Amino acid sequence: MRIRRGRVRRLASAFTLRAVLRPPAFSSSAFVCKLAGARLGRGIFVGYGWEGERVRLVPLDKARHMENALAWFNDPDVTELTLTGDFPLARLAEEAWFDRTCAEMSPTPTDIVFAVETLAGEHVGSAGLHRIDWRHGSALTGTLIGPREARGQGYGTDAARVRTRYAFEVLGLRLLLSEVMAENAASLRMLERVGYREVGRIPRRYWRRGAYREAVLLAAERES
Ligand SMILES: CC(C)(COP(=O)(O)OP(=O)(O)OC[C@H]1O[C@@H](n2cnc3c(N)ncnc32)[C@H](O)[C@@H]1OP(=O)(O)O)[C@@H](O)C(=O)NCCC(=O)NCCS
Repeated sequence: MRIRRGRVRRLASAFTLRAVLRPPAFSSSAFVCKLAGARLGRGIFVGYGWEGERVRLVPLDKARHMENALAWFNDPDVTELTLTGDFPLARLAEEAWFDRTCAEMSPTPTDIVFAVETLAGEHVGSAGLHRIDWRHGSALTGTLIGPREARGQGYGTDAARVRTRYAFEVLGLRLLLSEVMAENAASLRMLERVGYREVGRIPRRYWRRGAYREAVLLAAERES
């Protein structure tokens, strides 16, 4: 994925203006930060998010997102090929994580995690930038689409694409890294589709469910 710097500056200021001036109902397929009115069962939530073609990356909200996250991270079907997982995730630990992550106020956070919602406002996963290193302009990425029926619908690819643009165009990062188990065909394909390239492999890197698994290292670099 290669994006030139001049375009980065122009796009960044356009996002701000659009977020402030556009009414909640405005629609565009362009990558913009939007105010969004989404019906969520308990009423209308007016949110804020980075929008792609199929999903919106929105700030984590404990009341809206924690129960799903707790269920997904304890679902053996979801965690089969994730790098973490298979340990029980207790409610107390998840609450502590949400409290800590949602209260982060630093201008240079080391982790930025979004909830992934469909454009209709359904929470389907999470997408994160981890171990952000502001000096080197790099971060590790991780993606999860929780409900089985939501996987394979293009949500992961769109979330990864929006996250990449957010990282490069908004945060000014230049290098995104990811590590994926070699058996995780969906994750490899998703990352390849949004501009990551394989840069190496580590055989027998992870012990998972009865066997050592090979890890694939991938990178997406912004053109400086
Ligand atoms: C990996 C994951 C994030 C991908 O998100 P997704 O929304 O399911 O993926 P998409 O629908 O965007 O599909 C991405 C690509 O993978 C392909 N794909 C999807 N499921 C697949 C599967 N089970 N096997 C092989 N390819 C698959 C899709 O066809 C698509 O390729 P295409 O565009 O060439 O058709 C999601 O499946 C997931 O969260 N899995 C469980 C947790 C996990 O493994 N996370 C990643 C840890 S590194």
